[in-house]
Formats: sequence, structure tokens, C-alpha cells
Amino acid sequence: MTQFQLPENSKLLSSDFILGVATAAFQIEGGAEHRLPSIWDTFCDTKGKIADGSTGLTACDHFNLWREDVELISEFGVDAYRLSISWPRVIKENGELNEQGAQFYLNILNALQAKGIKAFVTLYHWDLPQHLENKGGWLNRDTAYKFAEYADKISQFFGDKVHAYATLNEPFCSAFLGYEDGTHAPGKVGKEYGKKAAHHLLLAHGLAMRVLQKNSPKSLNGIVLNFTPCYPESTSKEDLQASQYADQYFNHWYAEPVLAGKYPEIIDTMPDWQKPDILDGDLDIISTPLDFLGVNFYTRAIYRANACDIFEQISPPAPITDIGWEIFPQAFTDLLTSLNAKYALPPVYITENGAAMDDKLENNQVNDADRVAYYQAHFNALDEAIKQGVDVRGYFAWSLMDNFEWAEGYLKRFGLVYVDYKTQKRTIKQSGLAYKKLIRDRQS
Ligand code: FCB
Repeated sequence: MTQFQLPENSKLLSSDFILGVATAAFQIEGGAEHRLPSIWDTFCDTKGKIADGSTGLTACDHFNLWREDVELISEFGVDAYRLSISWPRVIKENGELNEQGAQFYLNILNALQAKGIKAFVTLYHWDLPQHLENKGGWLNRDTAYKFAEYADKISQFFGDKVHAYATLNEPFCSAFLGYEDGTHAPGKVGKEYGKKAAHHLLLAHGLAMRVLQKNSPKSLNGIVLNFTPCYPESTSKEDLQASQYADQYFNHWYAEPVLAGKYPEIIDTMPDWQKPDILDGDLDIISTPLDFLGVNFYTRAIYRANACDIFEQISPPAPITDIGWEIFPQAFTDLLTSLNAKYALPPVYITENGAAMDDKLENNQVNDADRVAYYQAHFNALDEAIKQGVDVRGYFAWSLMDNFEWAEGYLKRFGLVYVDYKTQKRTIKQSGLAYKKLIRDRQS
């Protein structure tokens, strides 16, 4: 049987290192008739936006199958489960709590608690209520305050059931993909939007941090950021500068305000029409100290200098995963050690890491040796970063099960568990079995 191997002294194997699995509401739940529409419903209904023309109306039907799914999670022996709350399921259009919707999550939290599984809850994994988008969405500063109100209501309702809260998942994706290049909902395109939306998202994060610290002082409260480390195509000064610019534009644009209370220096070189609208005190709110930083890592990106656009991303060299992302585990170590060198980091949790592979279900099995190799290489890279002094306390595989992969629809499978979308049957892949063994052997 396939197994992961780690050095005996690896921190990943210690009993206080959290090993878990992650999902997000829109990607697995379905049950859309019981909640308000989100920007992703609208985006899915817009022709040509989703590769297979699919929607999140049913997804993995987790809305109905959550009990079985909690059993499945518990079968892995995980210490923690990372899930997200659908804002349009728990808050009515008039701002009041939708108790039925909130109860859906409380039932899950109770079931996790009964099994001794810690809940890592993300409040915003991209599914903005459509009625807020109709008022400008993340381009409207007021959305940040609406988010803080939502955080207030839901954290009061959950009481002490949550081990860790992340305000936002990957604000880069919400801001850049959603409002600048338009490949994600709500699909707005324009350099005049991206950084403005980003600022309001970061403000929402800071406001919600303060609410969570008040309502849930015992939980770990933080944010999840994604990083795609930037490398130059050559050793030329121009390529190096291009990659450094891209690093500030895509990665540190989110990390630096949160961890150091300022935007990266490229802000000074940007034309005013691209800059965010920053009010006095915003950066103090945004840099409210974190209990933890969630880091999502999948791949790196390579850049060359470009006279018109400053930087240009080149196509990734092999090997790549089924979604076209280069497999380059060294970047995982480099990322963590460089973040540690640049910032005074709070404890870090790897909140997502994993790979889409072209899985085949045969004889009730998925022999995803390629995914096993991806995980193994990334465990080694993480182990190395920890040995170099980065304070990483946990790791979540993305994802528990195959699900709605945003603009790719159901075409890309990231799960440790295979989902047959016709029957909703779940089958643990070889990678899942290996992960389960890693967790269980560690505990025994
Ligand atoms: C991340 C998202 C997650 C999933 C993975 C593959 O950017 O947070 O929902 O789609 O990518």
C-alpha cells in the first residue's frame, strides 16, 4: 500500500501538529434553495464563465449529506476540519441572522465536537451575497462594515464551538480574479478595480478581527492568504525586477498591510486611478495582530520583464498538474522561510495545499500515485521550512473531496476522496488512504 514517509523527528508527526482536511461552502454544499443567491450563482448563470457550464446548485450535496461527510472526515482521524460559512445562508437581506441557516453549521460544529475534531471556520470563501454586489460589492466600502456585522452575528451564535476563525480566504482571488481580470465572480474587468476591492476586503478583515477578538477571545483569529512565489525567468536585472514587482502586486499586496501595516512600495509608482481609497486609520485596523496566519500554497510563477506591462508571466515548465500548475515544491520551503525573514509572523497554519489530477475510478479505486507524489514532496518541503525555523503548527490538505472548482466547474478534481456526481458516492483515493495512515500511525 502507498505510504508517506517522513523523518522520525519531523514536526509533522508530533501529536500537537494539526493535520486536517479543508473544504469551502459553495464548492460542496448545494442546498441553494435554502439560501440567498451569491455572486457565484450569478456568475455560473452567465454563459461562458464556467468551463463545463455547471453550477453550485447541488455540488457534492453536502447540505443533505453532511452527517455522512462528518463520518468520512472522522474516518481519516484528522485533528481538524476547515470549512467555510456561506454568508448568504446565514444572514438575511435585512441583515438579521437566518437562524435556520446558522443552525445548519451549528449542527456540523456540534457533530465535529462530539468526535473531538477541531473546527477551523472561514467566514468568507468568495460567496458574497448578490444583493451586496448589486450595491457595488467589494468596490463599495460599506461591504466591509456589512461583513463585520455578519461576523458579529455568526460568532455570537456559534459561541465557543470554533477553534479557529479565518476572516477571509485568499483576498487576492476575490480582488484580482473577481474585480481585475474577471475570471472569477463577479467578473469585473479593469485595473481601476482590483486594488480598490482589495482594500475593502482587507478593511473587512481588520474590522472582523476586532469583532472576533471580542466575541470569541478563546479562538485563534486570523486570515488565510494565498501565495504564488514569483521567480525570474533569467538572472537578468530586468527579469529580477519584473518578478519582484509581481511578488509585491500579487502576494505582498495582501501580506504586508496585514502583517506590517503598510502597502508594498510599488504603490508609490502606481497611477492614482489604480490606487485604493485609503482613509486615516484603515491600516491600523487592517494590521490588527493575528493569532495565526493561514498560508495556501499550490505552485510558483515565473516572470520576465515586459516593456508595456512591467511583468509578463511565462507558461510553466513541466511537470504540471491537471489544472496546469507547475509542481515545484522547493517554492514551498522558499516561501515560508522568506515570509519568516520578512515579517514578524504569528504561528502559521498551512490551510491549503494539494493537487488536481486526472483521476480514474476503476474497480472502486482511484490509484492517484501522482497526487501521492505531490503530497510527499510538499510534506518534505514543509518539513524543511520548519527545520529552518518557521513556526508552522498545522497542515490542511485541499481538499477532503472533489468539488466545484470555481471557473473549472467539476472538471478538476482536488479531493482525497473521489466524488461520483451522479450518485454522490464517495470513494477514498489512494492519496486519501495514505493520508489517513499517516495520521493514524502518528497517533498510535
Ligand atoms: C484555492 C481556493 C480553493 C480551491 C483551491 C484549488 O485558491 O481557496 O477554494 O479552489 O484553490
